[in-house]
Amino acid sequence: MSASAQLERLRAELGADAVLTEPEQCAPYLSDHRQLFHGRALAVVRPGDTAQVARLLRVCEAQRIGVVPQGGNTSYCGGATPDASGTQVVVLLERLDSIRHVDAASHALTAEAGCTLASVQAAAAQAGRLFPLSLGSEGSCQIGGNLATNAGGTQVLRYGMMRDLVLGLEVVLADGRILDSLSALRKDNTGYDVKSLFLGSEGTLGIITAAALKLFPAPRRHATALVALSDVQAAVALLMRLGEATDDRLSAFELIPRAALELTLRHLPGLTDPFTQAYPWYVLCECAGSVPDETLQVALQEALTAALEGGIVLDAALVRSERERGALWRMREGIPTAQRAAGVGMKHDVSLPVGRLAEFVTRAAAWVAEHVPDGRLVAYGHVGDGNLHFNIQALPAADPAVFLARSGQVQRAIHDLVHEFGGSFSAEHGIGQLKVAELERYGDAVELEVMRALKRTLDPHQILNPGKVLRLP
Ligand code: FAD
Ligand code: MLT
Ligand code: ZN
Repeated sequence: MSASAQLERLRAELGADAVLTEPEQCAPYLSDHRQLFHGRALAVVRPGDTAQVARLLRVCEAQRIGVVPQGGNTSYCGGATPDASGTQVVVLLERLDSIRHVDAASHALTAEAGCTLASVQAAAAQAGRLFPLSLGSEGSCQIGGNLATNAGGTQVLRYGMMRDLVLGLEVVLADGRILDSLSALRKDNTGYDVKSLFLGSEGTLGIITAAALKLFPAPRRHATALVALSDVQAAVALLMRLGEATDDRLSAFELIPRAALELTLRHLPGLTDPFTQAYPWYVLCECAGSVPDETLQVALQEALTAALEGGIVLDAALVRSERERGALWRMREGIPTAQRAAGVGMKHDVSLPVGRLAEFVTRAAAWVAEHVPDGRLVAYGHVGDGNLHFNIQALPAADPAVFLARSGQVQRAIHDLVHEFGGSFSAEHGIGQLKVAELERYGDAVELEVMRALKRTLDPHQILNPGKVLRLP
């Protein structure tokens, strides 16, 4: 079938309005948000419900048309960007945006894939519940994208990653069959956990159209502090202490280096340094609880006082109002935005055993100082989960092209060191098209074979997000 006949077929299935082909309409969906990847497409399509996604995939499989699912297009590895052939179809899930059901008693919510994360959080809050996944991109990323990337964020320490927040899924398979595993049951040991295959599969095994998600009691109190420290070793020591002192009600523990704080103060409006002097490292820590009294604040304050007296902590600023709390979180979540505003950088989303973080940072920082003299290390992140965004920001005087030309070599050195330390080269951002070679280099050979076998079984004609995550020989 010719390209124009294929387009006619898509229009017949989805309606003419749901098939975009004009260059200016399609442009926003053909590049990733960092502008690292650019593609072309036969069309950008906007199915309106699960049945239309199923019909679309039946046509695409029959015609061997590559299909690239796209949610909020906020991911970091180019997973939602089509290739350069101009033959693939980008599938937007944005019209599947209903909250189908909220069951406060069962602590469950069923949302369609195109709901933004923020809208799911709001629906849970309206029912007096918490949906805990929290990302800086939550206003625009979508639940389908969060599931497909197994997103992490700032609350993983307490509530787990997206994978841990899923009860059921509805998925359209490559041949258009609808897999209905949308039950919100807590206990269901009936054979293999098939739905879990789609979590973190980045659109390569099926298109997720809806999910039943876990909710939690809404916290009524938060105790939050920005803590100043001399090094990463002290941050890890503080993590252990706070976990014990707060009876494991620690919900966030985010490492922030001075370089990151300075970037946010310079590039984001309305932020001030809570301290009167500069410190090398900070931790934004937060405890959350349902008891509406001062217990948590007292526990956090006492633990921080003891850590100050014990020389682990250099200084601490406890939050006294929701306004102060909001400002600290704006600062933390604004780090990626501030980094972009400051110019080009190299990103490494790595995880390590928590006990080896400090040693890793010492070794990796020394390597960066020697080999990337025109860059400044901005290593921050979800240290409570062993996850560091080990980023290197180009200094203002650096030539961006010269700086970026070394990204591959720098990435290899950092990832080799991560591997030596028993860590992961992709903690929460996935593989996409950016890290396919890394997965081949560091992945377990047998696990890769199993992944390829699953891909061949579920997508025999390789129409689902071709070239992402895995290369099939
Ligand atoms: P997209 O970028 O649209 O797609 C991501 C992948 O999922 C692609 O491979 C796509 O094909 C696939 N996909 C999308 N929808 C579906 C579907 N319905 N079915 C099947 N496949 C699908 N990530 C974190 O993990 N932690 C963070 O703390 C974090 N912070 C961020 C902060 C900022 C400021 C930004 C810009 C990004 C951040 N991210 C973070 C990255 C990003 O927001 C997440 O990866 C998010 O889960 C992507 O969702 P999305 O809807 O934008 O997906
Ligand atoms: C974050 O934690 O801020 C993100 O995952 C990292 C990023 O956006 O670069
Ligand atoms: Zn992160």
